[in-house]
Formats: sequence, C-alpha cells, structure tokens
Amino acid sequence: MLDLSLCKDLLNLGDLEVKYMGRKGEFTEQLKKIAELSLEEKKTTGKLANEIKRELDKKFSDLRDSLYNEGTYNMSIDPTLPGKQIIGGHLHPLSQVQYELEDLFVSMGFMVLDGPELESDFYNFEALNIPPHHPARDMQDTFYIDKKNKEGELDLVMRTQTSSVQVRAMRKYGAPLRCVIPGRTFRCEATDARHEHTFYQVEGIMLDENVNMVNMKSVLETLVKSLYGQETQLRLRPKFYPFVEPGSNIEVTCFLCQGAGCRVCKHSGWLEVGGCGMVHPNVLRAGNVNPDKHQGFAFGFGLTRLTMLKYGITDIRYLQSDDMRFLGQF
Ligand code: FA5
Repeated sequence: MLDLSLCKDLLNLGDLEVKYMGRKGEFTEQLKKIAELSLEEKKTTGKLANEIKRELDKKFSDLRDSLYNEGTYNMSIDPTLPGKQIIGGHLHPLSQVQYELEDLFVSMGFMVLDGPELESDFYNFEALNIPPHHPARDMQDTFYIDKKNKEGELDLVMRTQTSSVQVRAMRKYGAPLRCVIPGRTFRCEATDARHEHTFYQVEGIMLDENVNMVNMKSVLETLVKSLYGQETQLRLRPKFYPFVEPGSNIEVTCFLCQGAGCRVCKHSGWLEVGGCGMVHPNVLRAGNVNPDKHQGFAFGFGLTRLTMLKYGITDIRYLQSDDMRFLGQF
C-alpha cells in the first residue's frame, strides 16, 4: 500500500513516484488495463481512474514542496571533492591577429575603418580600374546577389577584396590619408588547405604628397617583423593588379623551414601573403583625389594566411570549423 506519510526525504519520494506513477509503475500498469474494458465500463472506470491520478499527482507534488521547504535533502554532498572546472572563452586566433595589427597601425598613425561586405560592383571592381569584362575579374569570381540596388540595378556582389573600401575612404576623408581596413571577403572558389570561399583580409592605404615605394616597403617590413620576429625576411616581386602601378606580391620566409624549402612553401622558402603597389591614378580620380598632387601605396594581406603563418596552421579550414579541440590551443 502507498503510504506517503512514511516518506521522509526527496530521494525516497522520487523512488516512490517512479514505483507507482512512472512509465512502468504499478498505478500506470492498472491504467493501461482500462483499454481492455467494455465501452460502458471504460466510461465509469476511466473517470474514476483519472480522479485518482489527479489526486495522487497532487499529493506527490504537495509533499515535494513541503520537503523542499523543510530543506530535507538527504543528498550526500562531499565538499572536499574538486569542483567542476569552468573553461573561460578567449578571442578567436583570427581576431587576436587582427587586433594585434590594428594596434600596430594605430601606433603608426593609421585609422581603422570598416566597409560593407555586400558591396556594389562599382566599389569592388569598376572604381578599382577593373571595368566589366576585364579579365582580372576572372581571378576573383564571387557571389552575385539577385537583388536590385537603390538605382534599380542588379549590381550587388559579396566583396572579393577589402580593396573595395579604398575609394570609399578616399571619398569620405580625402588626402592625405592613412587607414587600414580589416574584414571578411568572399570568392567563389573550390576550397583546399590554403583556399576558402570566405576568408579575411586587411587592406591598408597611405596617401600624401611624397609617399613612395620605399615608404611602402618599410611599413610592410615593420608589419611582418612585428608579427613573426626580427629575423623574418620580406620579398616583393612584380605582380599585376589593375588598381596599382607598379604592383607587387608580398612574400615572407616560410614559417616551417625558415626559408630552407619544404612542402608547405613548395620548396621555394617563401610564402605569398598579399599584394601591394602604388595606387593607380585612375583609382585616385575615382576617389576624388588629384593624382598630380597626391600619391601613395596600398596593400592587402590575407589575414587568414597571416594567422596560419603565425601559428603554423597547415589547413585553412580549421579556422572556421568551430572545433573546440583546435580553438582551445590559442
Ligand atoms: C587582392 O585581393 C588585392 N586586393 C590585394 C591588393 C591590395 C593588391 C592593394 C594591391 C593593392 P589577391 O587576390 O592576391 O589580391 O589576395 C590577397 C591575399 O588574400 C592573398 O595573398 C592571400 O593571402 C589571400 N587570399 C586570396 N584568396 C584567398 C582564398 N581563397 N582563401 C584564403 N586567402 C586568400
């Protein structure tokens, strides 16, 4: 017989509740038998059974409340056991490198700017001296958006490069100008250990009356040495970008072999991390800057590549995998 008054603590109450009212409890088993009765019997017995169930549920619930209020927890707590470790969060490795670079550039007098990820074809390509049908677009195939802009034209793209903010910055702040623009970029590409469809870049631009390539090399060298140590070498080799003239790629000594040559750097000793060059006069004009008075340089680093290089990460896909075993290491 069920005598709840004998029940002295919450553990005991829980056991009783399972024994009688649980899925296979004694009372529950009786309830199941109602299904075997005739229709007439079901009506009366079912009604009665429901009343009893309601009453029992209430008794269990009242008793639980009163045991809680009395504080009659008969639960064994061993205060000498070590507590559960609370794991604190931290910044993603990409954010850590981004903030480190921002601090460095702010110390050199650069502003940190932001720009839209959903960008117009104009700022992403045309203003950067890449007209429609220019072959340079092939290298940066992207995701075109099926939505019209304010002028009713279909010209929105997911930006392929943070260079898209160059002309926006010139139009807003004019020259002289010093700014860096970290941000997310998108390209329609097949992913592999070094390529993602969504990745991060850091753009930089410096315009003034007497800015030259030596200034550019000095700024880039300061950046790579501050990130990777004084022994790191920088190499610039000519490369075509329509928005700079002359243009160059940016390479640093391989993190794994320190320049000796290995499989990561394809035995060259160097890894490409970005592009740079002197801003093309057409781009200055698009930004309402007079190329006869002001000139300067621009650069764009793959922030994702810089981060891989800093921590020796061999596969880019880890960075967006949300895998705590990977992220917990930084
Ligand atoms: C550019 O994006 C130019 N906007 C850089 C630039 C800026 C040149 C200013 C001149 C003046 P590029 O396509 O080479 O250039 O990309 C620059 C860097 O972004 C690459 O070196 C690489 O580090 C990174 N990157 C490019 N594509 C990917 C990708 N799919 N996944 C990861 N990183 C990438």
